[in-house]
Amino acid sequence: MEYRHLGRTGIRVSELSLGSWVTFKNQVGVDAAVEIMSAAYDAGVNFFDNAEVYANGKSEEVMGDALQRLGWRRSSYLVTTKFFWGLHDGVNEKSTLNRKRLIEGINGSLERLQLDYVDVIYCHRPDKTTPIEETVWAMHNIIEWGKAFYWGTSEWAADEIVTAIQIAERHHLHKPVTEQPEYNLFERRRFEKEYARLFRDYGYGSTTFSPLAFGLLSGKYNKGIPKDSRATLKGYGWMHNDVTDKGRLAKVRALEPIARELKCTLAQLSIAWLLKNPNVSTVITGASRVEQVHENLKAADIAKKLTPKVLERIDKVFGVKKEEEED
Ligand SMILES: NC(=O)c1ccc[n+]([C@@H]2O[C@H](COP(=O)([O-])OP(=O)(O)OC[C@H]3O[C@@H](n4cnc5c(N)ncnc54)[C@H](OP(=O)(O)O)[C@@H]3O)[C@@H](O)[C@H]2O)c1
Repeated sequence: MEYRHLGRTGIRVSELSLGSWVTFKNQVGVDAAVEIMSAAYDAGVNFFDNAEVYANGKSEEVMGDALQRLGWRRSSYLVTTKFFWGLHDGVNEKSTLNRKRLIEGINGSLERLQLDYVDVIYCHRPDKTTPIEETVWAMHNIIEWGKAFYWGTSEWAADEIVTAIQIAERHHLHKPVTEQPEYNLFERRRFEKEYARLFRDYGYGSTTFSPLAFGLLSGKYNKGIPKDSRATLKGYGWMHNDVTDKGRLAKVRALEPIARELKCTLAQLSIAWLLKNPNVSTVITGASRVEQVHENLKAADIAKKLTPKVLERIDKVFGVKKEEEED
Protein backbone atom coordinates (compact mmCIF):
# COMPACT_ATOMS: atom_id res chain seq x y z
CA MET A 1 0.00 0.00 0.00
CA GLU A 2 1.24 3.48 -0.85
CA TYR A 3 0.42 6.47 1.38
CA ARG A 4 -0.29 10.00 0.17
CA HIS A 5 -0.37 13.25 2.10
CA LEU A 6 -3.87 14.50 2.76
CA GLY A 7 -3.43 17.71 0.79
CA ARG A 8 -0.87 19.95 2.46
CA THR A 9 -1.28 18.38 5.90
CA GLY A 10 1.36 16.24 7.56
CA ILE A 11 -0.96 13.26 7.77
CA ARG A 12 -0.62 10.43 5.25
CA VAL A 13 -3.54 8.32 4.11
CA SER A 14 -3.52 4.97 2.36
CA GLU A 15 -4.20 5.60 -1.34
CA LEU A 16 -7.07 3.12 -1.07
CA SER A 17 -9.46 3.38 1.85
CA LEU A 18 -12.80 1.98 3.01
CA GLY A 19 -16.18 3.58 3.65
CA SER A 20 -19.37 2.30 5.25
CA TRP A 21 -22.16 4.04 3.29
CA VAL A 22 -25.09 1.72 2.41
CA THR A 23 -23.21 -1.36 3.58
CA PHE A 24 -22.75 -1.08 7.37
CA LYS A 25 -26.00 -1.97 9.12
CA ASN A 26 -28.01 -2.46 5.89
CA GLN A 27 -25.91 -5.29 4.45
CA VAL A 28 -23.10 -5.76 6.96
CA GLY A 29 -23.47 -6.47 10.69
CA VAL A 30 -20.69 -6.27 13.26
CA ASP A 31 -19.20 -9.72 12.45
CA ALA A 32 -18.92 -8.95 8.75
CA ALA A 33 -17.68 -5.41 9.49
CA VAL A 34 -14.86 -6.90 11.57
CA GLU A 35 -13.96 -9.19 8.68
CA ILE A 36 -14.13 -6.42 6.04
CA MET A 37 -12.22 -3.83 8.09
CA SER A 38 -9.67 -6.41 9.10
CA ALA A 39 -8.99 -7.40 5.47
CA ALA A 40 -8.55 -3.73 4.59
CA TYR A 41 -6.29 -2.93 7.57
CA ASP A 42 -4.13 -6.01 6.94
CA ALA A 43 -3.61 -4.77 3.39
CA GLY A 44 -2.44 -1.38 4.71
CA VAL A 45 -5.67 0.67 4.71
CA ASN A 46 -5.49 3.30 7.44
CA PHE A 47 -8.54 5.43 6.58
CA PHE A 48 -12.11 4.43 7.45
CA ASP A 49 -14.93 6.72 6.38
CA ASN A 50 -18.31 7.11 8.03
CA ALA A 51 -21.06 9.71 8.46
CA GLU A 52 -23.62 10.51 11.08
CA VAL A 53 -26.44 10.06 8.58
CA TYR A 54 -25.37 6.61 7.32
CA ALA A 55 -28.10 4.18 8.41
CA ASN A 56 -29.29 6.98 10.69
CA GLY A 57 -26.35 6.68 13.09
CA LYS A 58 -26.28 2.87 13.03
CA SER A 59 -23.33 2.71 10.64
CA GLU A 60 -21.23 4.54 13.25
CA GLU A 61 -22.47 2.10 15.90
CA VAL A 62 -21.44 -0.91 13.78
CA MET A 63 -18.00 0.60 13.11
CA GLY A 64 -17.61 1.49 16.79
CA ASP A 65 -18.40 -2.07 17.88
CA ALA A 66 -16.09 -3.47 15.19
CA LEU A 67 -13.24 -1.21 16.34
CA GLN A 68 -13.75 -2.35 19.92
CA ARG A 69 -13.43 -5.96 18.83
CA LEU A 70 -10.49 -5.32 16.55
CA GLY A 71 -8.58 -3.50 19.31
CA TRP A 72 -6.15 -1.79 16.94
CA ARG A 73 -3.76 0.81 18.32
CA ARG A 74 -5.66 4.08 17.91
CA SER A 75 -2.67 5.88 16.35
CA SER A 76 -2.48 3.30 13.56
CA TYR A 77 -5.71 4.30 11.80
CA LEU A 78 -7.93 7.25 10.96
CA VAL A 79 -11.69 7.46 11.31
CA THR A 80 -13.77 10.17 9.70
CA THR A 81 -17.35 11.28 9.98
CA LYS A 82 -19.59 13.89 8.39
CA PHE A 83 -22.45 16.20 9.31
CA PHE A 84 -25.25 17.94 7.45
CA TRP A 85 -28.49 15.99 7.12
CA GLY A 86 -28.81 15.25 10.82
CA LEU A 87 -30.74 12.50 12.59
CA HIS A 88 -33.96 14.35 13.40
CA ASP A 89 -36.39 16.60 11.58
CA GLY A 90 -36.26 19.47 14.08
CA VAL A 91 -35.96 22.97 12.68
CA ASN A 92 -32.33 23.34 13.74
CA GLU A 93 -31.35 19.71 13.21
CA LYS A 94 -31.93 18.95 9.55
CA SER A 95 -29.77 19.90 6.54
CA THR A 96 -27.76 22.45 8.45
CA LEU A 97 -24.21 23.36 9.43
CA ASN A 98 -25.18 25.65 12.30
CA ARG A 99 -22.88 25.77 15.32
CA LYS A 100 -25.26 24.06 17.77
CA ARG A 101 -25.90 21.14 15.40
CA LEU A 102 -22.24 20.58 14.51
CA ILE A 103 -21.16 20.51 18.15
CA GLU A 104 -24.06 18.29 19.20
CA GLY A 105 -23.32 16.18 16.12
CA ILE A 106 -19.69 15.46 16.95
CA ASN A 107 -20.60 14.53 20.53
CA GLY A 108 -23.18 12.01 19.29
CA SER A 109 -20.81 10.52 16.71
CA LEU A 110 -18.01 10.04 19.25
CA GLU A 111 -20.43 8.23 21.52
CA ARG A 112 -21.65 5.92 18.74
CA LEU A 113 -18.12 5.25 17.50
CA GLN A 114 -16.90 4.76 21.09
CA LEU A 115 -13.91 6.99 20.35
CA ASP A 116 -12.37 9.98 22.13
CA TYR A 117 -11.80 11.73 18.80
CA VAL A 118 -12.18 11.24 15.08
CA ASP A 119 -9.43 12.24 12.69
CA VAL A 120 -11.30 14.18 10.03
CA ILE A 121 -14.76 15.72 10.17
CA TYR A 122 -16.54 16.87 7.06
CA CYS A 123 -19.36 19.24 6.29
CA HIS A 124 -21.28 16.66 4.25
CA ARG A 125 -22.87 19.29 1.97
CA PRO A 126 -22.83 23.10 1.83
CA ASP A 127 -25.52 24.92 3.82
CA LYS A 128 -26.77 27.95 1.92
CA THR A 129 -28.54 29.40 4.98
CA THR A 130 -25.87 29.34 7.70
CA PRO A 131 -23.07 31.90 7.27
CA ILE A 132 -19.88 30.07 6.27
CA GLU A 133 -18.11 32.02 9.03
CA GLU A 134 -20.27 30.33 11.71
CA THR A 135 -19.46 26.89 10.30
CA VAL A 136 -15.73 27.61 10.06
CA TRP A 137 -15.66 28.73 13.72
CA ALA A 138 -17.55 25.62 14.89
CA MET A 139 -15.22 23.28 12.99
CA HIS A 140 -12.23 25.18 14.39
CA ASN A 141 -13.56 24.84 17.93
CA ILE A 142 -14.20 21.10 17.57
CA ILE A 143 -10.56 20.70 16.51
CA GLU A 144 -9.31 22.93 19.34
CA TRP A 145 -11.22 20.78 21.83
CA GLY A 146 -9.38 17.69 20.52
CA LYS A 147 -12.53 16.01 19.22
CA ALA A 148 -11.14 15.97 15.66
CA PHE A 149 -7.78 16.83 14.08
CA TYR A 150 -8.69 18.07 10.60
CA TRP A 151 -11.79 19.20 8.79
CA GLY A 152 -13.00 19.16 5.25
CA THR A 153 -15.89 19.68 2.88
CA SER A 154 -17.96 17.30 0.77
CA GLU A 155 -19.46 18.34 -2.55
CA TRP A 156 -19.02 22.04 -1.89
CA ALA A 157 -18.58 24.41 -4.80
CA ALA A 158 -14.98 25.55 -5.30
CA ASP A 159 -16.03 29.16 -4.52
CA GLU A 160 -17.52 28.10 -1.18
CA ILE A 161 -14.34 26.24 -0.26
CA VAL A 162 -12.17 29.25 -1.13
CA THR A 163 -14.44 31.44 1.01
CA ALA A 164 -14.07 29.05 3.97
CA ILE A 165 -10.27 28.97 3.56
CA GLN A 166 -10.11 32.76 3.40
CA ILE A 167 -12.26 33.21 6.51
CA ALA A 168 -10.04 30.76 8.39
CA GLU A 169 -6.89 32.53 7.22
CA ARG A 170 -8.28 35.94 8.21
CA HIS A 171 -9.04 34.77 11.76
CA HIS A 172 -6.12 32.31 12.14
CA LEU A 173 -8.50 29.36 12.47
CA HIS A 174 -8.06 25.75 11.36
CA LYS A 175 -8.69 25.73 7.62
CA PRO A 176 -10.55 22.99 5.74
CA VAL A 177 -7.91 20.73 4.21
CA THR A 178 -9.76 18.30 1.97
CA GLU A 179 -12.81 17.74 -0.20
CA GLN A 180 -14.79 14.52 -0.35
CA PRO A 181 -16.20 14.54 -3.89
CA GLU A 182 -17.66 11.93 -6.16
CA TYR A 183 -15.05 10.96 -8.73
CA ASN A 184 -15.19 8.05 -11.13
CA LEU A 185 -15.05 7.35 -14.87
CA PHE A 186 -18.60 8.66 -15.31
CA GLU A 187 -18.24 11.69 -13.05
CA ARG A 188 -15.13 13.68 -13.93
CA ARG A 189 -15.95 17.26 -14.69
CA ARG A 190 -16.18 18.85 -11.25
CA PHE A 191 -13.06 17.13 -9.92
CA GLU A 192 -10.95 17.76 -12.99
CA LYS A 193 -12.19 21.26 -13.92
CA GLU A 194 -13.89 23.13 -11.07
CA TYR A 195 -11.57 21.86 -8.35
CA ALA A 196 -8.33 22.24 -10.37
CA ARG A 197 -7.62 25.63 -8.76
CA LEU A 198 -8.12 24.21 -5.25
CA PHE A 199 -5.42 21.61 -5.85
CA ARG A 200 -3.09 24.09 -7.60
CA ASP A 201 -3.52 27.18 -5.41
CA TYR A 202 -4.31 25.70 -1.99
CA GLY A 203 -2.92 22.15 -2.12
CA TYR A 204 -6.40 20.99 -1.12
CA GLY A 205 -6.67 17.25 -0.43
CA SER A 206 -9.29 14.90 -1.86
CA THR A 207 -10.82 11.74 -0.45
CA THR A 208 -12.88 10.67 -3.43
CA PHE A 209 -16.05 8.59 -3.24
CA SER A 210 -18.02 6.04 -5.28
CA PRO A 211 -15.10 4.85 -7.45
CA LEU A 212 -17.34 2.24 -9.08
CA ALA A 213 -20.27 4.63 -9.63
CA PHE A 214 -22.19 2.71 -6.91
CA GLY A 215 -21.10 -0.65 -8.37
CA LEU A 216 -21.93 -0.05 -12.04
CA LEU A 217 -18.27 0.08 -13.12
CA SER A 218 -17.64 -3.40 -11.69
CA GLY A 219 -19.71 -4.76 -14.59
CA LYS A 220 -22.12 -6.44 -12.16
CA TYR A 221 -25.14 -4.79 -13.83
CA ASN A 222 -24.18 -5.80 -17.37
CA LYS A 223 -26.71 -8.64 -17.42
CA GLY A 224 -29.43 -7.05 -15.32
CA ILE A 225 -29.73 -6.25 -11.62
CA PRO A 226 -28.27 -9.07 -9.46
CA LYS A 227 -30.48 -10.13 -6.54
CA ASP A 228 -27.88 -9.46 -3.87
CA SER A 229 -26.79 -6.03 -5.14
CA ARG A 230 -27.20 -2.58 -3.61
CA ALA A 231 -29.77 -1.65 -6.26
CA THR A 232 -32.24 -4.18 -4.80
CA LEU A 233 -32.13 -2.68 -1.29
CA LYS A 234 -35.16 -0.86 0.04
CA GLY A 235 -34.74 2.85 -0.62
CA TYR A 236 -32.22 2.41 -3.45
CA GLY A 237 -34.71 2.24 -6.32
CA TRP A 238 -33.28 5.57 -7.50
CA MET A 239 -30.26 3.60 -8.76
CA HIS A 240 -32.30 1.62 -11.29
CA ASN A 241 -32.23 4.20 -14.08
CA ASP A 242 -28.46 4.51 -13.87
CA VAL A 243 -27.64 0.81 -13.67
CA THR A 244 -29.95 -0.11 -16.55
CA ASP A 245 -29.07 2.84 -18.79
CA LYS A 246 -28.03 1.39 -22.18
CA GLY A 247 -25.47 4.13 -22.89
CA ARG A 248 -23.73 3.71 -19.55
CA LEU A 249 -23.75 -0.08 -19.79
CA ALA A 250 -22.23 0.11 -23.29
CA LYS A 251 -19.31 2.11 -21.86
CA VAL A 252 -18.75 -0.40 -19.09
CA ARG A 253 -18.75 -3.23 -21.66
CA ALA A 254 -16.30 -1.31 -23.84
CA LEU A 255 -13.82 -1.37 -20.94
CA GLU A 256 -13.85 -5.17 -20.88
CA PRO A 257 -11.18 -5.74 -23.58
CA ILE A 258 -8.85 -3.28 -21.80
CA ALA A 259 -9.31 -5.08 -18.47
CA ARG A 260 -8.74 -8.43 -20.18
CA GLU A 261 -5.47 -7.25 -21.72
CA LEU A 262 -4.27 -5.96 -18.35
CA LYS A 263 -5.39 -9.23 -16.68
CA CYS A 264 -7.58 -7.46 -14.16
CA THR A 265 -11.26 -7.05 -13.33
CA LEU A 266 -13.37 -4.05 -14.33
CA ALA A 267 -13.52 -2.94 -10.70
CA GLN A 268 -9.73 -3.01 -10.42
CA LEU A 269 -9.34 -1.10 -13.69
CA SER A 270 -11.80 1.62 -12.63
CA ILE A 271 -10.19 2.06 -9.21
CA ALA A 272 -6.66 1.98 -10.67
CA TRP A 273 -7.62 4.74 -13.10
CA LEU A 274 -8.41 7.04 -10.15
CA LEU A 275 -5.01 6.37 -8.60
CA LYS A 276 -3.31 7.81 -11.68
CA ASN A 277 -4.56 11.29 -10.71
CA PRO A 278 -2.02 12.92 -8.36
CA ASN A 279 -4.75 15.22 -6.97
CA VAL A 280 -6.44 12.19 -5.39
CA SER A 281 -5.29 11.69 -1.79
CA THR A 282 -7.28 8.50 -1.22
CA VAL A 283 -9.94 6.58 -3.14
CA ILE A 284 -12.68 5.57 -0.68
CA THR A 285 -13.89 2.16 -1.78
CA GLY A 286 -17.06 0.43 -0.62
CA ALA A 287 -17.65 -3.29 -0.12
CA SER A 288 -20.59 -5.40 1.03
CA ARG A 289 -18.42 -8.54 1.34
CA VAL A 290 -14.83 -9.34 2.08
CA GLU A 291 -14.08 -10.79 -1.38
CA GLN A 292 -14.72 -7.34 -2.86
CA VAL A 293 -12.14 -5.83 -0.49
CA HIS A 294 -9.53 -8.37 -1.58
CA GLU A 295 -10.31 -7.72 -5.24
CA ASN A 296 -10.46 -3.93 -5.03
CA LEU A 297 -7.29 -3.43 -3.02
CA LYS A 298 -5.29 -5.15 -5.77
CA ALA A 299 -6.07 -2.14 -7.97
CA ALA A 300 -2.85 -0.45 -6.81
CA ASP A 301 -0.83 -3.05 -8.77
CA ILE A 302 -2.93 -2.42 -11.87
CA ALA A 303 -2.35 1.35 -11.72
CA LYS A 304 1.28 0.70 -12.66
CA LYS A 305 0.10 -0.84 -15.93
CA LEU A 306 -1.98 2.17 -16.99
CA THR A 307 0.32 3.73 -19.57
CA PRO A 308 -0.60 6.99 -21.36
CA LYS A 309 -1.79 4.85 -24.29
CA VAL A 310 -4.14 2.84 -22.07
CA LEU A 311 -5.43 6.03 -20.45
CA GLU A 312 -6.14 7.44 -23.90
CA ARG A 313 -8.16 4.34 -24.79
CA ILE A 314 -10.18 4.73 -21.59
CA ASP A 315 -10.82 8.41 -22.36
CA LYS A 316 -12.06 7.40 -25.79
CA VAL A 317 -14.57 4.98 -24.30
CA PHE A 318 -15.98 7.78 -22.15
CA GLY A 319 -15.91 10.34 -24.97
CA VAL A 320 -13.29 12.57 -23.35
CA LYS A 321 -11.29 14.39 -26.01
CA LYS A 322 -7.79 15.81 -25.61
CA GLU A 323 -8.95 19.44 -26.19
CA GLU A 324 -11.68 18.97 -23.59
CA GLU A 325 -9.05 17.92 -21.06
CA GLU A 326 -7.01 21.03 -21.76
CA ASP A 327 -9.76 23.70 -21.77
N1 LIG B 1 -19.41 12.27 0.90
C1 LIG B 1 -20.42 11.73 0.28
O1 LIG B 1 -21.43 12.37 0.01
C2 LIG B 1 -20.36 10.27 -0.09
C3 LIG B 1 -21.30 9.72 -0.97
C4 LIG B 1 -21.17 8.37 -1.30
C5 LIG B 1 -20.14 7.62 -0.77
N2 LIG B 1 -19.26 8.18 0.11
C6 LIG B 1 -18.15 7.40 0.73
O2 LIG B 1 -17.47 6.63 -0.25
C7 LIG B 1 -17.54 5.24 0.06
C8 LIG B 1 -17.59 4.43 -1.20
O3 LIG B 1 -18.76 4.77 -1.95
P1 LIG B 1 -19.57 3.64 -2.67
O4 LIG B 1 -19.89 2.57 -1.69
O5 LIG B 1 -20.67 4.28 -3.44
O6 LIG B 1 -18.42 3.07 -3.67
P2 LIG B 1 -18.53 2.26 -5.03
O7 LIG B 1 -17.19 1.61 -5.19
O8 LIG B 1 -18.98 3.11 -6.15
O9 LIG B 1 -19.64 1.15 -4.75
C9 LIG B 1 -19.40 0.15 -3.81
C10 LIG B 1 -20.38 -1.00 -4.00
O10 LIG B 1 -20.15 -1.64 -5.24
C11 LIG B 1 -20.21 -3.05 -5.10
N3 LIG B 1 -18.84 -3.56 -5.29
C12 LIG B 1 -17.71 -3.15 -4.69
N4 LIG B 1 -16.64 -3.83 -5.14
C13 LIG B 1 -17.12 -4.70 -6.04
C14 LIG B 1 -16.50 -5.68 -6.84
N5 LIG B 1 -15.19 -5.88 -6.81
N6 LIG B 1 -17.30 -6.42 -7.67
C15 LIG B 1 -18.64 -6.23 -7.71
N7 LIG B 1 -19.28 -5.31 -6.97
C16 LIG B 1 -18.52 -4.54 -6.13
C17 LIG B 1 -20.73 -3.29 -3.68
O11 LIG B 1 -22.15 -3.25 -3.71
P3 LIG B 1 -23.08 -4.56 -3.79
O12 LIG B 1 -23.63 -4.75 -2.43
O13 LIG B 1 -24.09 -4.23 -4.82
O14 LIG B 1 -22.21 -5.72 -4.19
C18 LIG B 1 -20.20 -2.08 -2.96
O15 LIG B 1 -20.87 -1.79 -1.76
C19 LIG B 1 -18.79 5.13 0.96
O16 LIG B 1 -18.77 4.02 1.79
C20 LIG B 1 -18.69 6.41 1.76
O17 LIG B 1 -17.76 6.26 2.81
C21 LIG B 1 -19.34 9.49 0.45
